[in-house]
Amino acid sequence: MAKTVARKAARRAKKAVGTRVERKARVTRRPRAGSEGPRTLTIDIGGTGLKMLVLDARGRPVNERARVATPQPATPASVLRALKTLIASQPRFDRVSVGFPGVVHDGVVKTAPNLAPSWHGHDLAKALRTATRKPARVCNDADVQGLGDIAGKGVELVLTLGTGLGSALFVDGRLVPNLELGHHPFRHGRTYEDLVGKAALEKAGKKRWRKHVRAAIAQLDPIFNYRTIYLGGGNARLLKPADLPKNARITSNEAGLLGGIALWR
Ligand code: BGC
Repeated sequence: MAKTVARKAARRAKKAVGTRVERKARVTRRPRAGSEGPRTLTIDIGGTGLKMLVLDARGRPVNERARVATPQPATPASVLRALKTLIASQPRFDRVSVGFPGVVHDGVVKTAPNLAPSWHGHDLAKALRTATRKPARVCNDADVQGLGDIAGKGVELVLTLGTGLGSALFVDGRLVPNLELGHHPFRHGRTYEDLVGKAALEKAGKKRWRKHVRAAIAQLDPIFNYRTIYLGGGNARLLKPADLPKNARITSNEAGLLGGIALWR
């Protein structure tokens, strides 16, 4: 009896060792999850800065974010030149996603209020496909940011506080593309963007600008009745979380790039 138990234990131990060795060998041979599959170069074109990084197949950054100031005047030619220089410093990628600060239909720019009028009608997706020889998709910047922020449940609104005011609306994770709340009249003939954009921040100072942001949220909440409002973009860091309603979240500026992978879903 004792002999049988000892034999069984020895067999179990042998099996366990075998399993351990085998598992270990498999783990060391298996590449890091997400390192297989397409990598996405994600680009955020802003009125102030051009940013980019490469995401692995699971949407995790594989490198540090690179940034240069947006050339002025920000014409298609000057912006594309700056983008090409920055792209040359990026690691390997298989496709390109772009967040653009204006209305975009099928990769073609319709408006670019904070860049230059010569963008109107410019096929940015095609220009980037030619420049990189990779497939490229272009969407509104706030829409891309939102794709990186939302929970995917109910109505969610995203505002980006940067040079302009970006907005993106989602219903159960589905995007209503190109919502341009920034240009809607808000107060005394001025638009939301006039009151919470970068120019307003510089003119009114942080305290009054925060007050305007709170007033804008108070106006939008009973119209959209969203579950959550996400506040992103470079200036969102100036907000005080304690001053905001409970359903408001301040999100990282990085989401503008992290959402890039969602354009391929
Ligand atoms: C543009 C939007 C853009 C926002 C943030 C606004 O002026 O009209 O399309 O999302 O700026 O860049």
